[in-house]
Amino acid sequence: MFPATTLSRCLVLRQSWKHLRELYFRRDSTDYQYINGGGRLFSYHNQAVLSLSHRGWSILPERYFTSDIPKNEKDVTSEDVTIGGLKRRWRKCLEEEGVPESDLSVEAIVAHVLGKKMFHELDASIMTLLPTKKEKEDIDRLCHQRLKRMPVQYIISEWDFRDMTLIMKPPVFIPRSETEIFVEIITDHYRKDEELKILEIGCGSGAISVSLLRAFNKSHVTAFDVLKEAVELTQENAARYNVQDRLNIYNESVSCRVPKHLENSKFQFDLIVSNPPYIFEEDLDGLEPEVIKFEDTAALNGGRDGADVIFDIIKLSPHVLKPGGYIWLETDTRHSDILKDWLKRHRDLSVQFVCCFPDFTDRPRFCQLQYVGDT
Ligand SMILES: C[S@@+](CC[C@H](N)C(=O)[O-])C[C@H]1O[C@@H](n2cnc3c(N)ncnc32)[C@H](O)[C@@H]1O
Repeated sequence: MFPATTLSRCLVLRQSWKHLRELYFRRDSTDYQYINGGGRLFSYHNQAVLSLSHRGWSILPERYFTSDIPKNEKDVTSEDVTIGGLKRRWRKCLEEEGVPESDLSVEAIVAHVLGKKMFHELDASIMTLLPTKKEKEDIDRLCHQRLKRMPVQYIISEWDFRDMTLIMKPPVFIPRSETEIFVEIITDHYRKDEELKILEIGCGSGAISVSLLRAFNKSHVTAFDVLKEAVELTQENAARYNVQDRLNIYNESVSCRVPKHLENSKFQFDLIVSNPPYIFEEDLDGLEPEVIKFEDTAALNGGRDGADVIFDIIKLSPHVLKPGGYIWLETDTRHSDILKDWLKRHRDLSVQFVCCFPDFTDRPRFCQLQYVGDT
């Protein structure tokens, strides 16, 4: 008969089963104090179940069975070893470790492992079933990644943006929900049958470019991104929605100088759109670990005023926009004032500030500028 054991929750969640088993038997180890207590090993539905005192239950692989394990099924509630039990344990663990949106994260992971996009698409009765070995391994592995603060979008490799499900890959910037509003402002501005020639600077996953190509089915987009992975991901997402034939994309850093692929593009574009890196350098340290550790800094860092790339885009605009063409920019709340001031000092560019649209919290976030042409 095995001695009674207790394991701390973190020991169970963080140690491999092999290590767990070693600890179990290594009574001379200083760790033994952690497993010296009230838990027990049981057999349940032909699986070994380790009781974790008040912490719930975990299933041990069959190879840990021995004839010494006492049969005691009535002590094991089926709920504890079910998918629902696994979900609850992970939610509690993430919550205790201070991982934001622990509930939503675990729900997204469980739904993904069980082949659904949304948790609510799962039949509620599934929560009372035992996971297969593979399902449990997958849920544990993906929740461990969340514990290390990897964004859930990277963990499940996709995320919804407007009416699309886009492929997500680190370190390419994950599109934010306010960018959905930004796209809507632009799609509301033009007639759907316009043959727009659109230039996007910093396409990331392709959220904006692919949305615009779908909204305007006679349009063409030329997109640039400094990050090779972003260019590849935009191509993948464009192909997913079958708009790749109307997209030209280049892995090139755009500055105030005309990029070599646009040298013959004088007055070519109807609009420039960009959600550029616009975080003020001094604010970078305050970002969540999810952002700092996993997303590419070049997608975030806008320099001292958060406007390095914004200024470059405005300086580039007279070379590529048709007179009367607009520049649409997603920005920080402080940028509309900064841009108005800056444009007063750069009248030679013939770019005017038109207006700034609010986000869903009513803060000024989306700037519309116009290249009025040589007057
Ligand atoms: C905030 S992300 C926006 C991505 C995407 N458009 C979106 O809204 O989800 C900014 C993107 O601009 C790219 N980028 C930054 N500086 C750039 C530059 N000078 N030229 C081209 N791309 C740039 C980054 O690699 C990143 O993909």
